Amino acid sequence: MTMKAALITGTSRPLGLGFAVARQLAELDHHVFLTARDVSRAELLAARLRRENHQATALRLDLTDAASMVEAADQVAQRVGHLDVLVNNASDAVDFTVLSALDADLDAVRSALDVDVLGPWRLVQTLLPLLTAAPAARIVNVSSISAQQIATGLDLGASLRAPAHSFAKHALDVLTTVLARALKDTPILVNAVDPGETATHPERGDEQDARPAADSARGVVRAATLDGNGPTGRLFRDPWPLT
Ligand SMILES: NC(=O)c1ccc[n+]([C@@H]2O[C@H](COP(=O)([O-])OP(=O)(O)OC[C@H]3O[C@@H](n4cnc5c(N)ncnc54)[C@H](OP(=O)(O)O)[C@@H]3O)[C@@H](O)[C@H]2O)c1
Repeated sequence: MTMKAALITGTSRPLGLGFAVARQLAELDHHVFLTARDVSRAELLAARLRRENHQATALRLDLTDAASMVEAADQVAQRVGHLDVLVNNASDAVDFTVLSALDADLDAVRSALDVDVLGPWRLVQTLLPLLTAAPAARIVNVSSISAQQIATGLDLGASLRAPAHSFAKHALDVLTTVLARALKDTPILVNAVDPGETATHPERGDEQDARPAADSARGVVRAATLDGNGPTGRLFRDPWPLT
């Protein structure tokens, strides 16, 4: 049987959600492609997985650089020829000190849209031949509850407003439904998952109630491994019932 393959964006940090997702997919016998802007950082993590006898390859991929997406797609095509899972995990740096859309730096909004929305959108277009070559590919967009601040006015407290991030994640949720609709006549399922508050940046000192990345990764992996009857175009927040 052909080995499954998964590509995860934003896999540059050992404590990051992306690496936890990559590890769990590797444990489920996927060849994992760990991608980062700085390929040497992804390579350190890929080497860790290879030492644990997993199939792991590091690739350079910058979501603001279309050529890097084409190069990454070429590498996947040469090595495995198909892609069963794409996890859009990367996200632009968040400025939590901005508390209102009225104070938003629009260059920061544009940057967040580039990395969190247009990057994943272009990446899906670039990888489509590989996703179509798999029997039933899954695309998972890693969202955030912060999207609900812009979408519904949900009050998460002053320290969590970050309008650029919130706006971009809301747009990513919309993109999820748009892509799911565009792919409705294919076996490809597209869903978004909010992983919940996760302890990926202990240096910030504000993660006392956050859970480990390995716990948050489970919901992402679940969406990445849905069976053929699974939903598409949905946003899940962990713990999430499948209806
Ligand atoms: N941690 C939480 O509590 C939480 C809660 C809800 C949602 N999330 C979501 O979970 C995902 C992972 O976050 P995390 O907490 O694990 O933080 P993280 O490790 O900082 O993840 C962000 C990743 O995105 C990468 N990135 C930034 N700009 C990029 C670009 N232009 N091209 C490619 N990659 C780029 C970063 O790479 P560099 O190292 O090169 O900057 C980093 O690897 C994000 O989508 C985040 O919004 C996290």
